Amino acid sequence: MSTSIAKPPATVQAVDAHGDQVQQMFGRIAPGYDRANRWMSLGTDVRWRRRAVERLALAGGEAPRRVLDLCAGTMDSSVEIHRQFPRADVVAGDFSAQMLQHGRDKLVGSAGERITPRVMDAHALPHADDSLDAIFCAFGMRNVSDLARATAEQARCLRPGGRLVVLEFFRPTTIVPRVMHAMYNRTVLPVVGWLATRDWQAYTYLPRSMGRFRSVDEYAELLREHGFEEVQSTALTLGMAWRVDATLGPTPTPGASEP
Ligand SMILES: C[S@@+](CC[C@H](N)C(=O)[O-])C[C@H]1O[C@@H](n2cnc3c(N)ncnc32)[C@H](O)[C@@H]1O
Repeated sequence: MSTSIAKPPATVQAVDAHGDQVQQMFGRIAPGYDRANRWMSLGTDVRWRRRAVERLALAGGEAPRRVLDLCAGTMDSSVEIHRQFPRADVVAGDFSAQMLQHGRDKLVGSAGERITPRVMDAHALPHADDSLDAIFCAFGMRNVSDLARATAEQARCLRPGGRLVVLEFFRPTTIVPRVMHAMYNRTVLPVVGWLATRDWQAYTYLPRSMGRFRSVDEYAELLREHGFEEVQSTALTLGMAWRVDATLGPTPTPGASEP
């Protein structure tokens, strides 16, 4: 089946008021976003991203050819996907045109040929059913308005056997990550975020969104409910962040019932 991607609109309407706020917030911080990321993580995110992208490989180590970097932001992950899988066609999808725009300078040489930025909403992906080999999403799922709907969209667009790899700050449930998050989120994050972007609101939103989000186990369960198999969760840097990867199972035969 071939990948079919509708011509993107220059902007896309968020699905609800929450989405609207998130979209506007990323639009505002887009110019300082990369700077804030580098300062806050001291390069750790580069290592997390590199290891996570390795997990996009299909069964038998086969390289994926049609990849969506969802909630791509300024496209750091898209560039890493291209570096590791240079023959893949990568769509960098985000509902903030400004975030994509601020990453455009990274699309030089072959990256410019293989990576296509597209404005899109995670709740209504512009891809045909079964049309993608792999979906990558770094630090995007926590922001969506309806995680179940976004997950259903990913399952719809991936072909059976397709890979999903997600990097995320899930709600911590054990003591060490809880304490680390609490300390970091009340000090480094808002201060460094403000210095880099001059936007206090955005960098106090991050810890709030994390506290409201699912735990990694709850997220893994949601993936299984949507037909994903071999769901693996890996704690990164003492559970500060998580990598979750999974393979989409076979499409259920219509009308087939449980024995
Ligand atoms: C924290 S940034 C992560 C960006 C990038 N993946 C990275 O790792 O640097 C989250 C991104 O998700 C995008 N986003 C949030 N909700 C979205 C939605 N419903 N549809 C598409 N993109 C969304 C935001 O615009 C933002 O660029």
